[in-house]
Amino acid sequence: MDKIVEGKLDKPAKPKPRSETRGERVPPQGEGGFDVNWYPVCLSNDIRAGEVKGMDFLDGRVVVFRGENGAVTVMSAYCRHFGADLGVGGKVMGNEIQCPYHHWRYGQDGACKHIPIGGAIPKNARQFVFPTMEKWGLVFAFNGLEPTYQLPEFPIPADKLMYRTYGTLKFKLDIGLQITNSVDFQHLIILHGLDIEKYPNVEFHDNGMRQTGGMEWRDNMRGGGAKSVIEAQIVGSNFLVFGGDLAGINAYAVVVGTPITKEGCTYGYTIMAMPRFPESAGGEQATNTALGALERWSHALMVEDDQPIMDNISFRMDNVLHHDRYVAQMFRFLQNYPRAHPSAEYIRK
Ligand code: FES
Ligand SMILES: [Fe+2]
Repeated sequence: MDKIVEGKLDKPAKPKPRSETRGERVPPQGEGGFDVNWYPVCLSNDIRAGEVKGMDFLDGRVVVFRGENGAVTVMSAYCRHFGADLGVGGKVMGNEIQCPYHHWRYGQDGACKHIPIGGAIPKNARQFVFPTMEKWGLVFAFNGLEPTYQLPEFPIPADKLMYRTYGTLKFKLDIGLQITNSVDFQHLIILHGLDIEKYPNVEFHDNGMRQTGGMEWRDNMRGGGAKSVIEAQIVGSNFLVFGGDLAGINAYAVVVGTPITKEGCTYGYTIMAMPRFPESAGGEQATNTALGALERWSHALMVEDDQPIMDNISFRMDNVLHHDRYVAQMFRFLQNYPRAHPSAEYIRK
């Protein structure tokens, strides 16, 4: 038997050095404000002229109302008198909204216009009004005092465009992180089973990401193997547009979302768009059928494939491969994206 060298067995093996961190993360929305973006608040159809609705928005509460002039306003919900919620019993009177409690009335610019009991209107009796616009059947509010970018256009002439807007998906993950998968080519191949024949060029800029040159691919699992050539674009940090030639059809899809802190989730909407088919190809009815098929396909990828993963992920930039370089760029983009919360005092309970 070999002689045991004295002391050798008593020494514990030195632990191997290991990383103590799982890598970088993107701070959750609400930390340091919310990304400065156009956010969808509700469907346009939900607010007809003379109607008002209360909505959760970011970490607070807003009202959306449409005046007799057709203009829609997104305004802080809590009245600058004693804080009654204008979304519960508030009434639209002409182009103004009346508080249910003491009937102060606010205009579309947020300023108090009328106090029925009389007296001077206090200078500070002013609701927070978000820059607001309507597009593709959605009401958008800008988280900032002035919009810093324009919503994108589909490259389809307005008079030929047909679209369908779907709401509301609930994502547990922040929308910015959710749409990193537009540049996660590894997951397109491995998770969705796409056969990518050519990659696009990917460029990030101050207000998003743009792909050029077209990604050529086939969906052998769900798309019958037909070839598609598409480009994706990210606008702001919450807005993904992709489309081009989708299995022989000129079509576009949008995914956009709004963080709702109270529910710990993102409310997501999707928009499917394509030029109306000529009458010889079935006209409006056939276009609607194709829009529905496009929605089912994108739902299958986004909800059936992605969502179980994205709802439970603890998203980190940990061990990054060469394949992941654009996701890493997107991560950096999200980490540096400007945040603000000018309405904080007004919309929080
Ligand atoms: S709380 Fe709104 S008018 Fe008094
Ligand atoms: Fe995906």
